[in-house]
Amino acid sequence: MKTNLSSSSPSTIETPCLVVVVLDQAEKNQADKGKEKDKPAPAVATSDAAVAAAAKDVIASGEVTGKSFETTLLHNPAGLKAKRLLLLGGGKAKAFSSSDVRKLAGVAVRTLKSKSIRSFAFVVPETAVAAADGVRAAVEGALVGSFEPDYYKSSGNSKDQKIDDLTIVVQGDAKALQAALDAGRIIGESQNFTRDLVNEPSNRMTPNILADRARKMASEVGLGCDVLGPDKIKDMKMGAFWGVAQGSDEPPALIVLRYDPAGAAKNIHLGLVGKGITFDTGGISIKPADGMEKMKYDMAGGAAMIGAMRAIALLKPKVKVTAIILATENMPSGKAQKPGDVQIAMSGKSIEIINTDAEGRLVLADGLTYARQLGCTHLVDAATLTGAIVVALGYVNAGVFASDDQIYDRFVQALKQAGEKMWRMPLDDEYKDLIKSNIADMANAGSRWGGAIFAAMFLKEFAEDTPWLHLDIAGTAWMEEQKPWIAKGPSGIAVRSLVEFVKGWGA
Ligand code: BES
Ligand code: MN
Ligand code: ZN
Repeated sequence: MKTNLSSSSPSTIETPCLVVVVLDQAEKNQADKGKEKDKPAPAVATSDAAVAAAAKDVIASGEVTGKSFETTLLHNPAGLKAKRLLLLGGGKAKAFSSSDVRKLAGVAVRTLKSKSIRSFAFVVPETAVAAADGVRAAVEGALVGSFEPDYYKSSGNSKDQKIDDLTIVVQGDAKALQAALDAGRIIGESQNFTRDLVNEPSNRMTPNILADRARKMASEVGLGCDVLGPDKIKDMKMGAFWGVAQGSDEPPALIVLRYDPAGAAKNIHLGLVGKGITFDTGGISIKPADGMEKMKYDMAGGAAMIGAMRAIALLKPKVKVTAIILATENMPSGKAQKPGDVQIAMSGKSIEIINTDAEGRLVLADGLTYARQLGCTHLVDAATLTGAIVVALGYVNAGVFASDDQIYDRFVQALKQAGEKMWRMPLDDEYKDLIKSNIADMANAGSRWGGAIFAAMFLKEFAEDTPWLHLDIAGTAWMEEQKPWIAKGPSGIAVRSLVEFVKGWGA
């Protein structure tokens, strides 16, 4: 998809389709409930009078309300150079933000490509959002909306229906808007890069294939990359990681991506640690067959780190970042670890394996220790870690656990910028009893209550006193259903927030 900017008046743009957001200007307050004022007051979000005139009749008819994601397509709109006018509902004007722009651009892409329209112009809603924020969000959203997971269909797939050209229509400082467009491209493409990795089935995304993809990307964007294999993993005494990896015929890979720019902020070294289980059978504590095919996405945390590093390398914030991805399968076999086994983690702590399906926390434990050893001053991990986080938060919010309020506050800013939803979960000392073992320093699993917190408390033992965030993305890394702005399948969650978080440190 080619992207470009135009500062022309929307009505003068020659395009197969002009996309304009319609916002509901109605102000709702208690006193007016049920009265005339409750009725929607839809209006186009552009000051171009010709566009307002073209939309006037259909708005007056009541067919257009401005409700979120409502689409109305008009042909040969009077007074416009465009062949079509797509009116896109953006919801209440008062609550409108750049996150809505992101989704609406995705809706425009998905609506128009399904009609085999290959080019359109998107008018950034005026006054509702800052111009540069609107441009960036529109480009990100359009790219995210373009992604389809049906790569392996040999016919009838969506490759034949795609948008070739997107024009973003907006007024403002040309240089700043171009920078916003470029940033939006980098971030949207990096999110899709992650989604591509996550979408691959496990026979085509083994630990070493993941490592190869990371290495190739690293050489393209100028990141350092090391891939350490089984011997090195054993040499470094990563007993928790190796305990999971030992059951598989596919060799594990410890993927390290390094970004160390000239002039980086002093005394800050961010470590991004990702769970890269390319398939999670559960191991000897094997999972039921029903739905097991979905466990190909158990490397989504690792893939998010790889995608975020791609964006970081291209956006060049002034902060040192190292990503560590622990890639392995979790398999049952004659060599697999068994419930009751004790493993010694890289940090020296002993772990009683109660359930071999609680493997994510094991690989992350050694990833966190390794990151600290490399000198990371702040840590973030991302993992499809627990079914329990899905019980707690459903498919809407990811879980975020933070060792202190400062790092959490920074992350909240990043979430807002990125338009991603995560909800803070507790890490009180009272939960520490959960991870007790009779025979070792800790157990990897226990009671089913508070399962997501158990996993986080376990990880905390390895983050130790380093400021740390843990993102449990088990419920949000895979879209169970398609939405108007995004396909069913891998979501690429956390990439955008991680990029914003890192940019925040570099500013
Ligand atoms: N990869 C799973 C968690 C998961 C569940 C991811 C659903 C995506 C969707 C993880 O390794 C796992 O199996 N966790 C267990 C832990 C339990 C055995 C303590 C779980 O949540 O059931
Ligand atoms: Mn598991
Ligand atoms: Zn898992």
